[in-house]
Amino acid sequence: MNGLSPVSVQEIMANDPAHAPVARAQEWTAGAAYVIDRFVPLGEAAVPITDLGLVRADAVYDVVSVSRGQFFRLEDHQARFARSCDRMKLSSPFVQAEESALLNELVARSGLRDAYVWWAVTRGANLPHPSDRLHAERFQNRFYAFVIPYVFIKDDADRQAGIHLHVSNDYIRIPSNAVDPRAKNFCSLDLNMSLMEAGAAGAEWSVLTDGKNVLTEAPGSNIFVIRENRIMTPELGCLEGITRLTALELCAEIGLNIEVGTVTVDDLLTADEAFLTSSAGGILPVSTVNDQPICQGSGPVSTRIHNLYWEKRWAGWHGTPVDYEAVN
Ligand SMILES: Cc1ncc(COP(=O)(O)O)c(C=O)c1O
Repeated sequence: MNGLSPVSVQEIMANDPAHAPVARAQEWTAGAAYVIDRFVPLGEAAVPITDLGLVRADAVYDVVSVSRGQFFRLEDHQARFARSCDRMKLSSPFVQAEESALLNELVARSGLRDAYVWWAVTRGANLPHPSDRLHAERFQNRFYAFVIPYVFIKDDADRQAGIHLHVSNDYIRIPSNAVDPRAKNFCSLDLNMSLMEAGAAGAEWSVLTDGKNVLTEAPGSNIFVIRENRIMTPELGCLEGITRLTALELCAEIGLNIEVGTVTVDDLLTADEAFLTSSAGGILPVSTVNDQPICQGSGPVSTRIHNLYWEKRWAGWHGTPVDYEAVN
């Protein structure tokens, strides 16, 4: 792979036969879903309108990606999902092995080799009497899932150029003692609104602080800041991202000094490089912060981590092959 610039992942996915979908009936190729107790083509999936996941954002979820027909770190995502459920007193109707079989079946039904796999447990329907809401065990929590073709947060050209990042002025990340960000949950208006603030400022993505100049995370992603031989990522106020964990492992592999701790806006503004990490985008290099250039395109360390991430994944690192024979 080219070590000088981020490899064109989407181009490879579009052209390499290893990414070609397995042939399936047309109704499933746009995506497959599981709604409470049944599999349905994506276009037929619907949520009951009184579900508290919809009405009150009372739900946790997770997302794992599949590339070249392999889940990436499926067990780590499932373990995090179980922790998210525990933290929010939600209970999945499925144990881990049932859950992985169900997610496998969804991917197999769609035939997709590159997929975005989402699943959630919601609180379920509201209870007849408001006082019942005091007791988590009285609810019947519901399971939902879907699989769609893999969606990148940003495309190859953006990864090569590095994105323009905006540090939100108007929004802070919800404090941990309000809604614990380590539980991957539906409360995301702080993140969503900061994206629109970034759009209005002419930037391409946003990042949020805790209100005291300390970085937390970005919508759908964690942040890394590189200065000299140090690479830093926030410890608190953020999701324990699985791609963050992966980037930390790759940083250790190439001998960088890692600091998981307090990272300030000033650290970012004076960085040599920065990147975002997510299941829906892998490693996403940053070129400017609040219109200030920090790096010309994707920097050398970001590029190295980016390319290693895809190279190792495609070689099977932390991979679980999808069993496409699970359906026929
Ligand atoms: C708020 C937030 N932070 C970070 C991440 C990155 O986590 P992961 O690398 O596990 O996708 C996500 C993923 O969607 C997220 O929603």
